[in-house]
Parts: sequence; structure tokens; C-alpha cells
Amino acid sequence: MYLHPELETLSRPEIEVLQLERLKKTVAQCMNSPFYRKRFADHHIKPEDIRSLDDLKKIPFTTKQDLRDNYPFGLAAVPMEQVVRLHSSSGTTGTPTVILHTQKDLDEWANAVARCLYMVGLRPGDIFQNSSGYGMFTGGLGFQYGAERLGMLTVPAAAGNTKRQIKFITDFGTTALHAIPSYAGRLYEVMEEMGIDPKRDTKLHTLIIGAEPHSEEQRRRIEEMLGVKAYNSFGMSEMCGPGVAFECKKQNGLHIWEDYYIVEIVDPQTLEPVPEGEVGELVLTTINREAMPLLRYRTRDLTRILPGDCPCGRHHIRLDRMKGRSDDMMILKGVNIFPIQIETILMQFAELGNDYLITLTNEEANDLMTVEVELKEFCDDYPRLQALTKEITRQLKDEILITPIVRLVPKGSLPKQEGKAVRVNDLRKTLI
Ligand code: COA
Ligand code: AMP
Ligand code: ZN
Repeated sequence: MYLHPELETLSRPEIEVLQLERLKKTVAQCMNSPFYRKRFADHHIKPEDIRSLDDLKKIPFTTKQDLRDNYPFGLAAVPMEQVVRLHSSSGTTGTPTVILHTQKDLDEWANAVARCLYMVGLRPGDIFQNSSGYGMFTGGLGFQYGAERLGMLTVPAAAGNTKRQIKFITDFGTTALHAIPSYAGRLYEVMEEMGIDPKRDTKLHTLIIGAEPHSEEQRRRIEEMLGVKAYNSFGMSEMCGPGVAFECKKQNGLHIWEDYYIVEIVDPQTLEPVPEGEVGELVLTTINREAMPLLRYRTRDLTRILPGDCPCGRHHIRLDRMKGRSDDMMILKGVNIFPIQIETILMQFAELGNDYLITLTNEEANDLMTVEVELKEFCDDYPRLQALTKEITRQLKDEILITPIVRLVPKGSLPKQEGKAVRVNDLRKTLI
């Protein structure tokens, strides 16, 4: 039985009992990982010290840097022969992060995604198309297995090739689609070009949107354009991927599955809990994972816990839609990018100076990144400049997975800033 309705509908006291039981088990499991063993020893904590949910606070936070420092397998909490999958994020310059899964982890992940999809009314008989990138992007395999687990015919269309994507929607009678919100706009644009009216010519009724911040207004526009109900889906690779928190049919916040995660919201500066209902950084502890449990993981996502009960009757708490990040990570076309990745590539070119500016725009429902970088010396050898631009673009694309527009500009031409240089200028606005 994959949906576990008895866990989805637990009362608050029942959730807390289950959480404590699973937390203790997780902490014991963590002692198999060299990283947590050392962390606990360094802080003079023993697994037996965790006797209540409140005791979680005794455990130090885990950060992305910890994952990087212990790359690739330092957080494994099972023998590596039991690990059947890994997902990895980031490119080649910054140390990537790795998340490991046992078969049970993958099963539980699929169960969580299936639960989310069931919650918004999807059933066997629905045709689910996934426009996420596959491979390392967890939105690919994550939704694939979740939708199959629910028993839907699942179309792994993957990212890109919008015309083919639309042909699948019309030919196969796709009823539900997973797309990042900005790509929903691109789909509509191309449907218009193809003379396809989504309300008349497709069977789409449900859109799952997530992987990047978006507003309520943007959701309503997507719903109106495509004639669908659109549900916000939140997840991250470190927590498996999609299936962490999801809106129910009431569309009033995202239920986070507390039989999988313990939620804290902290002030990103002081790391103390924020007062109830206030915005802070989301900190998550996995309590249903074997290969690589994470204790008090700082997600860097800013949100708050919504007060009160959801009229749907579920007692798993609701998160507000994400308000931003407490670090400098950018999300473009559903891809996470850190400015340091770009800087590292640029600084490898002897022809380039130290000053650069990354400008983000979104014309015609497509995110664009322009990287302007100063040359070290004057140069008017245009073929050479062209070849250099091409090579920088190629290396950047390899690193950040999207194609930026690269502009080489004369030394001293970028605006000079007082104090800490502003490297990213985000001019994106909601277009759809
Ligand atoms: N999802 C699906 N398709 C996307 C997309 C997205 N997030 N972002 C762009 N595309 C489409 C574009 O519309 C274009 O197709 P079209 O010209 O037929 O309309 C095609 O992908 C290439 O996009 P482009 O912007 O020209 O290329 P790029 O090199 O900058 O980006 C992608 C490369 C699309 C492969 C990369 O952005 C990607 O893989 N994005 C998906 C990430 C993802 O799935 N995230 C979810 C994680 S849960
Ligand atoms: P990834 O690890 O590639 O899946 O990216 C995870 C990150 O994407 C999260 O930490 C968030 O910053 C962002 N993200 C995912 N889902 C959403 C969502 N529904 N709304 C806003 N941001 C999201
Ligand atoms: Zn609800």
C-alpha cells in the first residue's frame, strides 16, 4: 500500500509520536556515517541524548558546505553496497553535492510524490507528462516514479523541444503536466503559434508547478491561460527532490509531510527559532531515509509556517510559498546556479579582467542570463574576440547547464561600485 492514508491523516499528537520514534531511529542510523559520528563526538552528544523532539536543538545544523566537504560519500549511513542511486547537483568548478539512496529510500520517495499527486485529484487513468530535465534533475525521475507508482500513464517528455512537447499533449491526451512556472508561459506561447487552444484542443486539467519561486498572481495566470488547476510543488535534491511539500486542493499553502521531515524555521543570522508564523529559513530533518539522513539541514529557503488548520482536514503543517533565499543562489529555467560558478570559469581566462556583471532578464517567457566581463587589455582583433566569446560561452554552459549570452567589454566600462561588488542584477519580472 503506497499511499498510507493513515499517515497522511494523522492527528497532531499522532504526528509527534511518530516523529519522535523516527527521529531516534534516524539519529542511531546517522552513527554509521563518518561525518555524523565525528559531528556528534565533537559536540559531546550521544544518540541517547535525543529523548524528545525538543532535544533536536542539541544537534548542530548541517549545511550544503558539509555536503561539499564530505563529497562524495562521507555522509553515507549504510554500506555502499546498499546504495542504488545517487543524484548530484552543481557543475564542475564548485564541489558538487551528492545525495545517496537505498531502494527503500527510492520507494518512500515515490510514495511521497504519489501521495502529493493523489492529493490534487490525479488517479490511474490520468495521463501525466513531465517536462522536467531527467538525469541528475530530481524533478525528472522523482515525478516519473511517483506518477507511475500512482498508476498513471507517464510520459517522460523531458525538458525542451516545446513543439514536440505540445504534440505529445494533444496526441496522447495528456491530462496532467509538470512544468516549471516560467515554462508554462513558453508552452502557451508556442501553442498559440501552432494554432492550438489549450482549453479547446487539449485534455489538460492539472498543472504541477514548482522548482522556482512564483507568485499567486503568476499561478492564476497560468490557470487562466491553460484552463487548468495549478498546484505548487516544493522540493529539493537534498530532501530527495519533489514530494517534500505540496498544495492540496484548497491551494492555501503547501502541506509538508511530517512523517518524512521535521520542520524548523530559524532566523538565518542568529539561527534561533523565529516567533511562530514569521518568515525565516526552513530547516529540515529527514526522518524516513536510510542511505543519507540529514539532521537540521539548512535549506536556505525563506518561508513561514501558516497558522491554523487546513480545511482539507490534513494536519501536516503548511508552508507559505517560498519568499526567496538566504544565500545568493539563482534559479534560471529551473536550474540552480551560484555566481561563484560563473566567476570561477571567467577567472580561468587570462584575457579577462576581474570585473563582471550577470544580468538576468525574461523576455518572451524565457529566462536569459547575460554575462558582461571586462577584458584585461584593449583588443580590436574581432575574430579573436569572437572565438574567445564562443569558448567562454561553451565553458559556462558546461558548468551551469544553461546557455548565457556572453559580452566582452572594454576594461573599466562596467559600473564601479563602492564596497562589496554587486555581481548579479536580476531584472526579471512576471511576464505571464
Ligand atoms: N523546462 C522545460 N523546457 C525548458 C525549460 C524548462 N525549465 N527551460 C527551457 N526549456 C526549453 C526551451 O523552451 C527550449 O525549447 P524550445 O525552443 O523548443 O521552446 C529548450 O528548452 C532549450 O532552451 P534554451 O533556453 O534555448 O537552452 P539553454 O541551453 O539555456 O537551457 C535546458 C537548457 C533547457 C536544457 C536547461 O535549462 C534545463 O534542463 N532546464 C530544465 C531544468 C529542470 O528540469 N528543473 C526542474 C528540476 S525539479
Ligand atoms: P533542486 O535541488 O535542484 O531541486 O532545487 C531546490 C531548490 O529549488 C529549493 O531549495 C528552492 O530554492 C527551489 N524551489 C523548489 N521548489 C520551489 C517552489 N515550489 N517554489 C519556490 N522555490 C522552489
Ligand atoms: Zn490542505
